Amino acid sequence: MSFSVDELVTIDADDYRAAYDRVPFAFEHALHRLPMFQPEALAALAERYADSPQDYFIAGSAPTPGTKFYDVEQNRARPHEVLARLGDTPARVLLKRLENHDSGFRDLLDTLFRKFTALRGGPGEEKIARLESAIFISSAASTTPFHFDPEITHFFQIEGPKYYHVFPPDVVEESDLERFYVRGTVNIGQLDLEGCDPRQEHVFDLEPGRGFHQPQDAPHWVRTGQVRSISYAFSFETDASRGRGRVRAANRYLRAIGMQPQRPGPNPSADRAKAAVMQVVTPTLRGVRKVVRQVSGR
Ligand SMILES: [Fe+2]
Repeated sequence: MSFSVDELVTIDADDYRAAYDRVPFAFEHALHRLPMFQPEALAALAERYADSPQDYFIAGSAPTPGTKFYDVEQNRARPHEVLARLGDTPARVLLKRLENHDSGFRDLLDTLFRKFTALRGGPGEEKIARLESAIFISSAASTTPFHFDPEITHFFQIEGPKYYHVFPPDVVEESDLERFYVRGTVNIGQLDLEGCDPRQEHVFDLEPGRGFHQPQDAPHWVRTGQVRSISYAFSFETDASRGRGRVRAANRYLRAIGMQPQRPGPNPSADRAKAAVMQVVTPTLRGVRKVVRQVSGR
């Protein structure tokens, strides 16, 4: 299957380039018109996931946006069973890595990734470390609690309304990011909603045909409307985005020994030294002290 990408996405290229991985940014799309996103095709896709539990996640609705992410009850049913009962039981179904389950989704992912990469002027020096797509199916009036993800995302609303509350990543305290990245796993980051400045909040009232770009580490919470919601997203990490995570992990150690480490960005050579020491399987205090000497010139 091939797609005419110019008909799929409508976006202001200059503004997108300026906002990329810094500020949430809206665009329009036509993905919801593709046959692969129609209800029967999605039901068949969900059925194909039944034997791949590593590739789906099912949870109930959170009582409030501030609920801890993994405190929400997880559901043991399979995706197509939950989908069939979505009108009766509040639930959220996440189908991960679509491109490994359907060649049409592989083509769509490749096409969209090329398009958005070209819009921001090409990949530059960066190498892609991970690129994946997913579908989110949520019942009416369900809430995804506040969190951030360590990946760069483009989000497309396919069916129903969705109210997406998102902040720029720079509202997150460095120490919160460090606490997350020191764990070295791809997971979600838990945060306090009360700690974020409400003036920085972007609210996207999504409906079919609307989408937006979510920078890495941008905290968000999400609520659906009166009918079920279906969304598609593709997300990726680059060697540079992973490198920033390693710098923050090193900074966690430096902060623990009383230093005030510099955030990633302003000092690339210090960043390289910090990232390198964190690539060791088990960073040692000796390794971290060496970084301290390199960073501080001592
Ligand atoms: Fe998220």
